[in-house]
Amino acid sequence: MVPRSVLGYCIMGNKVLLFLFFLGLFSSCETPPKVSASATEEIAKQVLDDHSYSNISRVRTTHLDLELDVDFVNRKIYGVARHSLKNLGTDTVIFDIKGLDIKKITYERKGKEYETDFVIGNMDKDSILGQPLIVRIEKNTDRVSIYYETTSESEALDWLAPQQTSSGKSPFLYTQGQAILGRTWIPLQDSPSNRLTYSAKVKVPSGMMALMSAENPKKISEDGTYNFTMSQPIPSYLIALAVGKIAYHPYSKKCGVYAETELLNKAAYELVDLPRMIHAAEKIYGAYRWGRYDVLLLPYSFPFGGMENPKLTFLNPTIITGDRSLVSVLAHELAHSWSGNLVTNRTWDDFWLNEGFTVYFEHRIMEELYGKDMSEILATIEFQELQDEMTRINHSEHPQDTRLKLDLTGRNPDDGMTQIAYVKGAFFLKTLEATYGRRKFDAFLNSYFKKFAFKSIRTEDFLAYLNEKLILPNKKIEFNPDEWIFEKGLPKNCFKIENNRLQKMIDLANQFASGVDIFKKKRRVIKIKRRRKVIVEQLERNDHITQEWQTFIRALPQNLGERAMQRIDSQLQFSTCGNSELMAEWFVLGIKNNYKAQLPEIEHFLKKVGRRKFLVPIYRELLKKSDLNEFTISVFDASSPNLHAVSRKTIEKMVSKIRSSEIQATKTDQ
Ligand code: BES
Ligand code: ZN
Repeated sequence: MVPRSVLGYCIMGNKVLLFLFFLGLFSSCETPPKVSASATEEIAKQVLDDHSYSNISRVRTTHLDLELDVDFVNRKIYGVARHSLKNLGTDTVIFDIKGLDIKKITYERKGKEYETDFVIGNMDKDSILGQPLIVRIEKNTDRVSIYYETTSESEALDWLAPQQTSSGKSPFLYTQGQAILGRTWIPLQDSPSNRLTYSAKVKVPSGMMALMSAENPKKISEDGTYNFTMSQPIPSYLIALAVGKIAYHPYSKKCGVYAETELLNKAAYELVDLPRMIHAAEKIYGAYRWGRYDVLLLPYSFPFGGMENPKLTFLNPTIITGDRSLVSVLAHELAHSWSGNLVTNRTWDDFWLNEGFTVYFEHRIMEELYGKDMSEILATIEFQELQDEMTRINHSEHPQDTRLKLDLTGRNPDDGMTQIAYVKGAFFLKTLEATYGRRKFDAFLNSYFKKFAFKSIRTEDFLAYLNEKLILPNKKIEFNPDEWIFEKGLPKNCFKIENNRLQKMIDLANQFASGVDIFKKKRRVIKIKRRRKVIVEQLERNDHITQEWQTFIRALPQNLGERAMQRIDSQLQFSTCGNSELMAEWFVLGIKNNYKAQLPEIEHFLKKVGRRKFLVPIYRELLKKSDLNEFTISVFDASSPNLHAVSRKTIEKMVSKIRSSEIQATKTDQ
């Protein structure tokens, strides 16, 4: 019996303080080392990361050995998490858990397992962090095993029914650990400030393949048992698992793509530039340090565009368009193999170290493969998104969130996952590059990745290194990095990009808005084998790439009117083109313009796609239209069981505001 009620917590100042009430707490243990009252204060002091309860400065996991049994019938993982510990002599080890059912905990002495006592703290106020799992150990204990089961509250896990997959025949499971969901499927010291290696033995139903962020199989195992090792130390949020009817397509000895059999050919076609991307990345920032680099294409419910699980990037199938126009997501996830996975943010307040560097590096890889125009186009679009985000944040409860170094104490780390980290971060680095020159900046970044490889660092560590290696040795150049990192908004010296190709699309949108028939047929004379031929041309979607059309849609007037929308749609088929970036953008404009003919397409999209980046703006617009409330709520209710918790919770919050105002309205009607 676990005495759950004896542990309380409170939030004081910046820190989560744990209060243990020790009396009789560990009394059932055979050889219980006494826990002194001063341990409480010690624990309070040890909190290094506002988003983890773990006491890693006293005792930390160095290696995790997992035994996992994946049960699709009960939608449960039965697990044993064996933690090898570096113990500095403490009698208490604290893990993070959320939505886990802890069955039993043992510690090892002279190779034998002894059951030990544990306490589970209360859930924190907004149930962001979950609960501390406090385990009694001996001062020299170096191995603890936690026997547990996941529950329906294990938010990292997405259990898909066969009809949600491409085959329609076999179920699928995947996990999403970042930022603090690792603790919902494994009891962990779930802070990016700690790094651990791991191994796993995973049992799945026969006929299915299991993959992890580790050395992976290429073929389905007969008996459904798989063994994994990740021998480089990684932060806990990068532990990942996927199980399904999956097949493999190799590109080279080093890399390839996994997907459900039905999607494999399309995936293999779309991502064919992967070996070139790896080559380009290595040329810029040095050797790829993780052995293989494979990609797994997930089902549509995946809440992100991509996730940089080491050795096995997870990708959203919405990037498969047939024209390879969205592969920058792949470049982005690959770039994380340096920024994020090799050098990791120490806390979620330093998130920009992961994402800002990665967006910068993504653009460099794209430039290397497809030219400067392409990287400029991406940067321009993102810069526009950054400006919108800045306006939103300036009007929000937390205007200080436009700083790169965040303070997310008492908040969900998700709050910090904005375009500030991604795009302001990338533009900081672009500005440094423009100021010091690419050669010097590349040399600096190369040495940065070497110096901090396999470490988790704070923004301040980066800043000190930047000052030492780049700013001080070039005294003649003036640069104030503090302004970029610790102050709100965008510094005046921010690097500027202007791209002609995108300007042309803005002009086109303006022409359309002013009544010019941009779809007018034009006759043109061409020469084929010295013979003149007259051809008739008309603007079509294939004339421009995704990002150009995105710019076009964004530049159209917001009150375009239904008829104009129809005209564009019949020429360019944005509603039905299958390119999710364009569809999402177009749907938002359509809702603003009461373009009702599009509603069936919107419904179909919302029931199929789980990527949060697309769902949020579409639902936001839908919810503004009171005449569409019924439609919106019924679409959400029908699709929500198919969403990953990350997306479901976000949209639920948005929809619940409408629900509660409706309830309020019925009450006043009565
Ligand atoms: N690591 C992120 C995804 C993430 C961030 C998950 C924070 C959970 C918490 C990933 O690398 C990412 O940034 N994905 C982007 C794509 C990218 C091209 C900007 C996405 O999902 O849209
Ligand atoms: Zn990223």
